[in-house]
Amino acid sequence: MTRPDAGLTATRLAGRVAMVTGALRGIGIAIAERYLAEGAEVILADLKAADDAETVAVMKRLGQAASYVRLDVAQEADWQAAAGTVRARFGRLDVLVNNAGVDCVGAVETLGMDAWRRIMAINVDGVFLGTKHFTALLSETGKTSSAGSSIINISSIMGLVGYSETSAYNASKGAVRLFSKATAIEFAQKRMAIRVNSIHPGFVKTPLLDIGMQRWADEGFAPSAQALIDGLDAATPLGRIARPEEIAGAAFFLASDDSSYCTGSELVVDGGWTAQ
Ligand SMILES: NC(=O)c1ccc[n+]([C@@H]2O[C@H](COP(=O)([O-])OP(=O)(O)OC[C@H]3O[C@@H](n4cnc5c(N)ncnc54)[C@H](O)[C@@H]3O)[C@@H](O)[C@H]2O)c1
Repeated sequence: MTRPDAGLTATRLAGRVAMVTGALRGIGIAIAERYLAEGAEVILADLKAADDAETVAVMKRLGQAASYVRLDVAQEADWQAAAGTVRARFGRLDVLVNNAGVDCVGAVETLGMDAWRRIMAINVDGVFLGTKHFTALLSETGKTSSAGSSIINISSIMGLVGYSETSAYNASKGAVRLFSKATAIEFAQKRMAIRVNSIHPGFVKTPLLDIGMQRWADEGFAPSAQALIDGLDAATPLGRIARPEEIAGAAFFLASDDSSYCTGSELVVDGGWTAQ
């Protein structure tokens, strides 16, 4: 039987402008696609050049409401340039999704400083810099609507609970969780009309997960990457890992006016993993 809501045209983000980092694949592109389907104009930001063949193919597929800026989230100059570009081109920003992130695996006693600094630069500095350089535009935009503007920081269940051999990733995602709460309070108390919330996905079928599982398999932790994914499916109360679209649904809620009273909150989307 067809669900009664099937086929409705969704334009709940019409007139809004959203920016998503790490948007060329995985969770980022799923969020960008959902926002576009809901009528937003979406700026995708990622490492590849604008004229790279993959970038061109993605942008062609997404259509005219999507635009692209090349941005390394760890570089302050890139954020400064992006803030200038978005202000000049759109004059507003309703939603900033700090999604770009990398993982890092290894026993703490063998983890190098370079690996530690790289993950902190991307996962933590990136969220700080995005927030810092878009606060002015988000605040101006937020004051024109009752729900305010929205910063959505993609943390992880690894920002809530520890896991063996992922201490650097755990530390970076825990930092994202509390940075989100601190900025939520700061903006609320100053009446800056910016809400800030974090999303905590469980295991999601993306290139990051596939590459990570292959690395663990290559190191002899399991006969294959698929065996590891099967194990994650089995260990998840809902019986499977997530699809990127299921994280995009949470990111849509936090971008929409339905989340007007949510700030400083952590939205866990993990199939029950951390409820055990
Ligand atoms: N996949 C999971 O199981 C999972 C679970 C919890 C949280 N997360 C988080 O979700 C986010 C997205 O993960 P994903 O699985 O889609 O990853 P992914 O590797 O599939 O995609 C990440 C994207 O970010 C881009 N990126 C990486 N470094 C960047 C930088 N310095 N500047 C700009 N862009 C950069 C990459 O080019 C890529 O397009 C990350 O923050 C990740 O930590 C993922």
